[in-house]
Parts: sequence; structure tokens; C-alpha cells
Amino acid sequence: MKEKTAFSWVWSYVRRYRFGMAAGLGLSVLVAAMNMVNPLVTGSIVDKVIKGGQHELLFKLIAIMLCVVVGKSIFRYSYQVIFEHCSQNVILKMREDLYAHIQQLDFSWYDNAPSGNVMTLLTSDLDKVRHFVAWVLYQILENSLIYIFSIITLASINWKLTLAFLVIAPPVLLLVRKFKIHIRPAHMKVRDQFAVLNTRVGENIEGNRVVKAFVREGYETERFEKENEGYRDVSVANADMRVKFLPWIDALCQVLPVILILFGGYLVIQNEMTIGQLVTFNGLMWAFIQPINMFGMLVDNTQNFAASADRLFELQKAESKIKSPENVEGELSTRAAAEPQTGLSTSAAASSETHSTIQGRVEFKNVTFSYNETPVIKDMSFIIEPGTTVGILGPTGSGKSTIANLMCRYYDADSGAVLIDGKNVKDYNLQELRRNVGITMQEAFLFSDTVEGNIAFAKQKASFEEVEAAAELARVKEFIGDLTDGYDTIVGERGVGLSGGQKQRIALARLFLADPKVMILDDTTSAVDNDTEYKIRQSIKSRSQGHTAFIISHRVSSFENCDVILVVQDGQIVDKGSHEELISRDGYYREVWLEQRG
Ligand SMILES: Nc1ncnc2c1ncn2[C@@H]1O[C@H](COP(=O)(O)OP(=O)(O)O)[C@@H](O)[C@H]1O
Ligand SMILES: [Mg+2]
Repeated sequence: MKEKTAFSWVWSYVRRYRFGMAAGLGLSVLVAAMNMVNPLVTGSIVDKVIKGGQHELLFKLIAIMLCVVVGKSIFRYSYQVIFEHCSQNVILKMREDLYAHIQQLDFSWYDNAPSGNVMTLLTSDLDKVRHFVAWVLYQILENSLIYIFSIITLASINWKLTLAFLVIAPPVLLLVRKFKIHIRPAHMKVRDQFAVLNTRVGENIEGNRVVKAFVREGYETERFEKENEGYRDVSVANADMRVKFLPWIDALCQVLPVILILFGGYLVIQNEMTIGQLVTFNGLMWAFIQPINMFGMLVDNTQNFAASADRLFELQKAESKIKSPENVEGELSTRAAAEPQTGLSTSAAASSETHSTIQGRVEFKNVTFSYNETPVIKDMSFIIEPGTTVGILGPTGSGKSTIANLMCRYYDADSGAVLIDGKNVKDYNLQELRRNVGITMQEAFLFSDTVEGNIAFAKQKASFEEVEAAAELARVKEFIGDLTDGYDTIVGERGVGLSGGQKQRIALARLFLADPKVMILDDTTSAVDNDTEYKIRQSIKSRSQGHTAFIISHRVSSFENCDVILVVQDGQIVDKGSHEELISRDGYYREVWLEQRG
């Protein structure tokens, strides 16, 4: 198959509307041609009606002019509506596809794509494509045709004057453009400096407390004055530039009318042309100027479009390295999700009936992994039997979250294997795997939604009772009364602010509701107070019955109910054992334990 280009990719969307687009372009050809009519008719009025005395023609000619004006308006309205309609539909589908596409891109893609960039792609770059389809395309056609039609029309009247225009107009207009471009940097500087000034003001207002706390008002004022003066200086320089160049631009703009009067007048005197024809020339002068003026802008717009289309196409081409194996269906996972979950089952065997076939045995077999170059997990091996509660302790950056990432297959091991129930995670359908291996991430993320919605995110069609039960277990219930609307309170970015500990508890409730066979709690209680932590620990204990649970924490107290604790340092398991075993020997665990005991 031929390699697809950005352009053919855009075309694959536009082609659905190709008939509409063709009709629109046809109408714009018509409008371009109609633009020639009225100057011709005006010329006839001068020659035939005013000079020739054929007064009876006047109404006819004026009627023609009116028809053309009305017709042009109708056609222009129609094709603009057509293009707007087509372009909006093209963008709708494109945005839909791109959004669905980025939803399934993997973690490592997101690592390398700052969210701001992705947002820009989906907003401003898409809009450049829309703008091209809706406007640039027909403007290119229409302006080229207006230019060509006017040359043909005028040359058929008088080729000498037309030639004079043809020779003189482009260099004059290019000179004008050059002057305008010359002014632009000064103008940009004003804009940039204004942005700097704005940021300064914004930071000072937001960071006002810090400024006061460190008694830096004087320093900040001084810094502001400097930027403020900078703004004055660039503004003055900009104005200076403008007043220097604007007269030249104005003068150049008068060149064409002067040629028309001088050379055109001469031709009329020489009887090579009638006054009416001179009027027609005058009426069509804009047709020489506008397309050339537009040309620069249309080229810019087309380049912008091409660059945006390239970027969007790159995004569309981006592929996840992490995919479900081809021959494995997601059937299991749908069944698991559709079945009612009993939640607190007492044995692995009992719950396996209701919650897919995974038992929850987790094995790392000589796993090595690096995000970039430096290995973060080094030849790590361990086996966790189903139903075990495992603690993981280690300094920040030792690789604890990475272990969790590998279990959920957010990343693939570079070498070695991560096995769930003896089967490589790479051989599972991804959705099935992630329904069975659930995680509360270190940074609890809440959507701009109600508390209930945020918890129920874990499970489609969860009843309120289920949500409430999960919320109770995660001790969300203890602060839900303080929120104005209880479970209906909007939280997240556009809602009320919650403390870190409250967010973590909502995230935990979400995991409890999902009730995966293997649950990973990554520093889930780091921001809750000791008392609540103790209560949550009891909940985790009851909830993790029949589940394999990993509890990643900085607090030794979190490991109270753990069957085994892995001590991770620098990507390796340096020790493992029960709490009692670990405190009985020298090592990192004992150190931390002693320190935290006070
Ligand atoms: N997405 C990522 N891209 C690059 N490096 C990462 C990424 N996530 C973590 N790291 C690095 O990997 C190492 C282990 O991180 P992590 O597993 O989060 O440690 P822990 O959870 O024990 O604090 C750290 O050095 C961290 O900087
Ligand atoms: Mg971590």
C-alpha cells in the first residue's frame, strides 16, 4: 500500500463532502466571474447612456447591475454556508478519531508528550485545518480567478493599459508588503513585552503572600518598573517605525490610480479608449490589487495548514507499543465486568467464580526495565501467591511505582517477564488484565464530577448502595457530611478543593468499588492522618481477603497486616520477610522503623 501523506489523510475526511465542496467551489467560480459584470456595465452607462444618449438603456443596465449584486450575495452566502458546514463536519470527525486514538495511546507516549502540546493539537492545529477547508481553499480559487478574469476582461478592452498594470502592480504591491513586514518585528516586540508585563503582574498578584512573607515588595516593584519601562521603550520604537514607513506605504498605494489617470487619460485623448472603458478599468483596479495582497496571506495560511496537518497526522500515526495480543479477545473481561461482584468473599476460590478466572498469583522473573537509559528495575525476581498481602518499602525513586506500572502493563519489561497466574502480562487482553490488576496511583486524580461520579467511575452502572459501601470502607463517609452537597458535590479542577488525604480516600473508594483481584495501593494513605490511616488499614484488611494486595508505603505502620514485605532499594529487592523478621535484622527496614517509632 502506498504510504499515506498528511494531505491524503486530510483528503480522506474531506472526500465525504466532495460533492458539497465541488458545488461550493463552482459557486465561487461564478462569483469571481460576476465580479467582472458591474464595472463593464458602468462603462456602458458612461459610453452609451451618458455620452451616447441612449437613455432607454439605463433601466435595463441598472437592472442587470442589481441582479448581479443580489445574485452575488446569494451565491456567496450559499457557498460560505456550504464550506462552513463541510469543514465543521470534517473537523468533528477528525477530532473524534484523534480523541479516540489518544485515549488508547500508552504511558510512554504520554511521557514524551507534554499535555499542553496535545491540547494545542486538538484545538489550534485542528482549527487551522478547518480554516483551510472552510476559507483558504475557495479564497485561493476565487482570487486566482478574479485576477485572471480581470486580465482577460481588461485586455480585451485595451491591452496596453492592462500590460502597464500587469508590469507595475506586482512590484509596487510587493514593495508595500516588504515595508509591512519590516514594521512587523517592532510590533511583535511590543506584543512580547506586553506578555512579559502581564506575567509579572499575574505572578505578583498570585504570589503576593510569598512577596510579603519575605519582605520583597521593594525588589518586586523595582523588577516591575524595569519591565514597565521596557514596554514603553518598545512601544515608542514601534510607533517611530510606523510613522517612518506609513507615508511610503500610502504613497505606493497611490501609484496605480496615478498610472490609470495618466496613461489611461492619455489613451482616451489619443482615442484609443473611451471614457466608459476608463471607468471600467477604474472599477476593476481592485481585481489587480486584492489577489496580490491576499496572495501572501494565503501562502502563509496554506503553510500553517500543511504544518498543522503534518502534526495531526503524526499524532494519528503514533502507535502504542503496548497492545493486546492479536488473537486474544476481550470476552473474558466483558463477562467479568457484567457479573455482579460479591465483594467481600472469604477465599480466593469463592471469589474466582464471580470475578473472572484470575487467581492473583504475581511473579517477576528477572525483570529489567528502564524508562530511558538508566535501568530503574534491575533483574528483579519474586513470587507472590494468591491472597497474599504484600508490603513494599523503599526510598523515593527506588522503583516502587515502577513495579506497579509493570504489573498493570503500563510499560513492558525490557527483559524478563511479569507473570500473572503464570501467564505473561503481554499475553492478556489489556482490558482484562487491567480489570483484574487495579491500582490507586500515587497522585490521586479526580475528574470534575460529583464525588459519587468519581467513585462510580470504576464501574459502569454501579448502584448508589455500592458506591456508598465503597465510600464507607475508604472512610470517605467521614468527611462527606462536611461537603455542601454530600455525594453530589462537584470536585476536581472545576469543583471544590479537597485536601490531599480526602482525594486519596475517594481514589481508594474507586478501587474498592472496582474490586480487582490484584489490588495495588501506591502510597494511598500518604496524606491522611494517622488515626484515619489506622481505620483505612482495617478496611484494606477486610477488603483484601481473597485478593492479592500490594501496599506501597513510606510508613512502616502501613505494613501491619502484611504477610510479607519487600524492601526495595535502587531497583532491587534487598530484603524480604515479615515485619518481625525484618526488624530483627539490621537493614533499611529496621532503620526506617526505628526512625518512625520516634
Ligand atoms: N515516566 C517516567 N519517565 C522517566 N523516568 C521515570 C518515570 N517515572 C519514574 N521515573 C524514574 O524512575 C525511578 C523510579 O521511580 P518510581 O518507580 O516512581 O520510584 P518510587 O515510586 O519508588 O518513588 C526514578 O528515578 C524516577 O525518576
Ligand atoms: Mg512512587
